[in-house]
Amino acid sequence: MTLLQVDELRVAIHRREKALLVLDGVSFAVSAGQCLGIVGESGCGKSLTLRATMGLLPRGAVRTGGEVRAGRGLAMVFQDSHASLDPTMRVGSFIADVVRRRRGASRAAGRRRAVELLAAVGVPDPDLRSRAYPHELSGGMRQRVAIALALATDPGVLLCDEPTTALDVTLQAEILRLLGKARAERGLGMVLVSHDVAVIRQVADVVAVMYAGQIIEAGPAPEVLGRPRHPYTRALIEAVPTLDGPAGRFRPIPGAPPDPANYTSACRFSPRCGHREAACQGVVPGIPALHARHRSSCIHEEAI
Ligand SMILES: Nc1ncnc2c1ncn2[C@@H]1O[C@H](COP(=O)(O)OP(=O)(O)OP(=O)(O)O)[C@@H](O)[C@H]1O
Ligand SMILES: [Mg+2]
Repeated sequence: MTLLQVDELRVAIHRREKALLVLDGVSFAVSAGQCLGIVGESGCGKSLTLRATMGLLPRGAVRTGGEVRAGRGLAMVFQDSHASLDPTMRVGSFIADVVRRRRGASRAAGRRRAVELLAAVGVPDPDLRSRAYPHELSGGMRQRVAIALALATDPGVLLCDEPTTALDVTLQAEILRLLGKARAERGLGMVLVSHDVAVIRQVADVVAVMYAGQIIEAGPAPEVLGRPRHPYTRALIEAVPTLDGPAGRFRPIPGAPPDPANYTSACRFSPRCGHREAACQGVVPGIPALHARHRSSCIHEEAI
């Protein structure tokens, strides 16, 4: 069952009197229990994709096209958990308020549900911790609270923006396990944004690779990450140092992504690409991550 469908999302930002199209036709779908992983370098548009889907664009950014259809509600876990919690409220009261607004529950029922949610995301001694203020909690605990808060609205799909980037490896694994549990138990759909291929590999069923405001490759995770077709995806995977590989194996991608002011309708990766040829200057549109079919926007996709 499709819980979220996003078609041809376009977002512009205004910079020096000019409107720059920072998201250019981003399409994807998420079904119940499924995790779509969105991966790409800094600035490619991952956060704006989630924010535009959620309808929470930052000031200065506007949606100029596209459609978002969500069967059940959406909730978002922000990269910075400070941003989603109210520093002046005890975390339990904050979650309880959300529950009460959502369900029209009594104060006592809201509080009980808040403690239940904190327990479900592995907060030890949830009754006591529910009375803490955000600044009294560690980063890992705060991130759990942010997830509990997102789950309090009983969403169909959870949008997670780098939910583990600020955490150490052990906590990172714990949070990812927790999100996996919510998917299995509630049939929650998930969109997980990360710049970290290793995180995406661990969790995602379907992967969308973003570059310069477009999805340039998408499909089942084992195919996209195991047999990447786009030279950018390959470079991104090779840039990840492997623990079991030869020591020091780490190949950063030469060059930098273009600034949105220089986005064109040609292949935006071509200036950095070893397979570049004249045909790459033709129109190369982004591709949709709509179903399980493996696709790449590279015109060479069959040849290399
Ligand atoms: N509030 C804003 N005002 C102006 N430009 C913005 C704003 N937010 C994002 N941008 C620009 O839009 C583009 C996409 O930004 P976005 O934050 O979605 O990237 P990202 O892939 O999430 O990067 P990161 O991995 O660093 O979080 C970038 O060029 C960025 O500079
Ligand atoms: Mg971001």
